[in-house]
Amino acid sequence: MIARFEAWFARRSIRLKLTLAFAGVSAVLLGGLALALYFSFEVGLDDGINRSLDARAAELGALERPAKPTLAARPPLAESSGAFAEILSLHGKVLDATAGLRHTPLLDARAITALHGSTLISDRGNSRLLARPLRDARGEVLVVGVSLAQRDHALNVLGDLLFFGGPLMLLLSSGAAYLVAANALAPVERMRRRAAEISGGERDARLPVPASSDVLTRLGETLNAMLGRVSDAVSRERALVSHASHELRTPLTVLKLELELALDPERSREEMADALRSAVEEVDRMTRLASDLLVIARAGEGQLPVRPQVVDVAVMLRASAERFDRIARTEGRTIRTDMTDSLVVALDPDRLEQALDNLLTNALRHGSGTIELELRERDGAVELHVFDEGPGFPEEFLPHAFEPFTRAEASRTGEATGLGLSIVRAIAEAHGGSAGAGNRAGGGGHVWVLLRPAELTPDTRAHRSAMAPAGSRSSR
Ligand SMILES: Nc1ncnc2c1ncn2[C@@H]1O[C@H](COP(=O)(O)OP(=O)(O)OP(=O)(O)O)[C@@H](O)[C@H]1O
Ligand SMILES: [Mg+2]
Repeated sequence: MIARFEAWFARRSIRLKLTLAFAGVSAVLLGGLALALYFSFEVGLDDGINRSLDARAAELGALERPAKPTLAARPPLAESSGAFAEILSLHGKVLDATAGLRHTPLLDARAITALHGSTLISDRGNSRLLARPLRDARGEVLVVGVSLAQRDHALNVLGDLLFFGGPLMLLLSSGAAYLVAANALAPVERMRRRAAEISGGERDARLPVPASSDVLTRLGETLNAMLGRVSDAVSRERALVSHASHELRTPLTVLKLELELALDPERSREEMADALRSAVEEVDRMTRLASDLLVIARAGEGQLPVRPQVVDVAVMLRASAERFDRIARTEGRTIRTDMTDSLVVALDPDRLEQALDNLLTNALRHGSGTIELELRERDGAVELHVFDEGPGFPEEFLPHAFEPFTRAEASRTGEATGLGLSIVRAIAEAHGGSAGAGNRAGGGGHVWVLLRPAELTPDTRAHRSAMAPAGSRSSR
């Protein structure tokens, strides 16, 4: 039975549940209050009646009675505000009485004997009697009484009031509770309806937020902030996809041209080989672009995978610098390094190398003069700085330098796709760090990366002790 009620209750609307809970609690409280009121009123009334009977008995008991031999010769006992009285002999004979009671004994002889000298209060018909032996008398008993009609009437009125007024009050307050609950939940329904209408295409779609300052307002604001973030992410994704398809179109067009040229029957063998080599270069470029896009997409999903290993960053940096130094020399440029001999931490070596390659490629491609590579360790974080002596970043471009597919106007030609720096930032963030760019006071670009190494675990420590003293990387 209870289980069935619970199942039924669980299926009701919040409004109805609130109202039912309110009505249930109110009914118990109102019922308890009504009973307490009724009974305390009854006790109060009875108390008052008993005290007035007692006072009347005391008053009559103290009265001097005229010593007339017969009842008829004596004047009737005085009445007092509706109370009547009688004096009875031990055998139940009326000795004295208020008017109208001279021939009706209020107690019979048996009841008088049963008194045994004590006071008795009892209800008879619709009156209350108090019987008490007279002080000096020889077994004579004084009986005073009062009608209970007024008391019963007052109790009936109160009972009716509580019996009909209580449920009416309960009905009215439950109705009010239902309206308040419906009113309080109306903003939720408005938000739900708006949310059902919002499609993926609406950029500025927001939910209606109630004007009050309660939990619903905060919920609306939080959901709207989330909608804002989602719509930003969707816009970024769209921009990325359209940029990517645009970037892929160019090498595909070139590739098609190269292949058509290679197929031309009038081509010499060498010309055909040239065209095919060029086609292979285009395919390489597209492969690079595809893997870069994968890195950006994964970073966008917040899951760029990082596999930390204990590496000597100083050794890695020097190795990269040496590799790029050969290319730099062909352009009459040099790469200088400024770093400690060894800095052993747990980082993802492949990602670190990818970031370094992108920064050095940029310094070679977009900068000029000497390239300086700096490595610092600060508060447990690894800082990499790459400086060059070129034109630096245009000021208005700096805030966008790390966004995918963005390039300063000057570098919009050639091989560049504008993904290098965004990959550097994604790698830094995957390591719990950050990346930034700026210009040197004396001219030239400056790009820095901050990486937070992973905790050294027993695994990585074992790897560390197995490393050669020079800290050369074993993963490649
Ligand atoms: N050292 C630098 N000096 C001046 N400008 C720079 C430097 N590094 C990057 N930039 C500017 O920032 C832009 C973005 O760099 P990013 O590495 O993201 O792309 P990219 O080098 O153009 O292409 P990609 O790296 O994908 O081949 C560059 O196009 C260039 O305009
Ligand atoms: Mg680049």
